[in-house]
Amino acid sequence: MEQTKWYKDRVFYQIWPRSFKDGNGDGMGDLWGVCEKLEYIKSLGCDGIWFSPIYPSPGADCGYDIADYMDIAPEFGGMEAFQAMLKRAKELDIKVLMDLVVNHTSDEHEWFQKSRQRIEPYTDYYIWRPARPDGKLPNNWDSNFEGKAWTWDEVRGEYYLHLFAVKQPDLNMDNPLVREEVKKILKFWLDMGVDGFREDVITYISKKEGLPNDHLFPIYKGMPNYNHGPHVHEYLMEFKQDVLQHYDCMTLAEAPLVSPKKALTYIAEDETGQMDMMIQFQCQCADCLFTDYLPTKFSLRKMKRAFSSWQHKLRGKAWNMLYLENHDHPRILPRYGSLDYWKQSGKTLAASYLFLQGTPFLYQGQEIGMVNWEPSDPEMYEDVQTRYNYAHSNLNKPLDVRLKKMWRSSRDSARTPVQWDNTANAGFTTGTPWFYVNENYPSINVAQQEQDPDSILHFYRKAIALRKRLPVVKEGEYREHFPLSSTQYVYSRQMPGEKLLVVCSFTGKVTPLRIPKGFDLSHAEVVLQNYPDASAATLQPYECRVYLW
Ligand code: NOJ
Repeated sequence: MEQTKWYKDRVFYQIWPRSFKDGNGDGMGDLWGVCEKLEYIKSLGCDGIWFSPIYPSPGADCGYDIADYMDIAPEFGGMEAFQAMLKRAKELDIKVLMDLVVNHTSDEHEWFQKSRQRIEPYTDYYIWRPARPDGKLPNNWDSNFEGKAWTWDEVRGEYYLHLFAVKQPDLNMDNPLVREEVKKILKFWLDMGVDGFREDVITYISKKEGLPNDHLFPIYKGMPNYNHGPHVHEYLMEFKQDVLQHYDCMTLAEAPLVSPKKALTYIAEDETGQMDMMIQFQCQCADCLFTDYLPTKFSLRKMKRAFSSWQHKLRGKAWNMLYLENHDHPRILPRYGSLDYWKQSGKTLAASYLFLQGTPFLYQGQEIGMVNWEPSDPEMYEDVQTRYNYAHSNLNKPLDVRLKKMWRSSRDSARTPVQWDNTANAGFTTGTPWFYVNENYPSINVAQQEQDPDSILHFYRKAIALRKRLPVVKEGEYREHFPLSSTQYVYSRQMPGEKLLVVCSFTGKVTPLRIPKGFDLSHAEVVLQNYPDASAATLQPYECRVYLW
């Protein structure tokens, strides 16, 4: 089947379902709620959706612990609601991506239940190891969420590996039967009409033979022994050749710790590529060291280096996705922008990435500048990673200090319900919301921003419409200007007959406007701006301008 690469002309919207919109009043976001809001998503200019998992799950990791890959969770409306949603999405020409989580399952999945009882053919579906005579764990790896990566299973009398929560046992992808199961899942959803998959930590699926100890990596011990493992490309190629290439679909690989060079070994646009695009983490690390739990001061230069390096190194070889937010990181605005210049910096952030080459993704609420949730009590946190980190770090610090660290680091900071309007529960539900609503919803909500032509919401609409109208945004050559500036991000896109210059200030100070040589403003049109007057020779705090020639 010819793969048309339709994703290059689209903009995606990520739905984290339980907090998006409740359609039946039970307090939990669901697919009926999504149906209600599809026109809204389309009105933003978004014509693709990535659903974080909506399968049946005990919810130990908010759905990333799947108990049945071929159904839709009843709390999200079941298969009936999914099919209604899919039909409506197709009518609106919105592509739909499912989240494929096959590094691990839930421990409540039937496969695990049978594997722990050694019922064939499931005995080797997971990674089991016997107890050692010295009483030590099978190796020294850490899980990403809850301490060590091994848990003893009484039923089987062996340890199982879990790179994430205890309730997320890792599948044994070396077992061909497991790979057949993955192919069945892919086919099931593609045949139903979905357009592709976001593939959860897919670079972890092949572990180094013998599961050796790791003595090098400072955190998440073990990672070099399972990230980009020995057979990962082979297995991904098998999925492509046996299933994916027979559909006009798209795949998006989540890849912690990946460089552009490494990314090309997965997503090169030639016959060697196994997938289409990659979620890289470097763009999230301008204010932390590798993880949100090791925060540093925001460095614009670090952000620019990350953006530019991916633009340059992939150009002509691969096409990638672009993002600022998702469900795994605190909101971007208080991190890379400024709460003192909430509206201006929300817009500048949008301009800083929407004109790069690639397929942009927006995370629900980003388009209205939602900011971090700040609970007053650590017990209010829901996320398994947050709860573990809170219970095990900074124990000798006072409560307020510990809480502040969590506000800055927790995934829950960005998982509160979408703020639709200023009625009870931000219009998210008529029932009791499953999670806390950010108290700022009377001032930050969709309805209010729909009324305000100067809102962040309308800015996103304009910026997305512009990127879709201008071929240079898709094709043009990227250049970063003034890379050493720690207050401005200036980049251009250029192709024969069309030229774009994006100027973004990332400071609360007024700074001189710097225009690169060869860009004559007297012939340019300002096609997007976030202050009423875009003609001054200085930039206001967090001002952005987009010039077109
Ligand atoms: C990455 C997902 O984005 C995250 O939410 C999840 O907790 C882990 N993978 C484990 O599935």
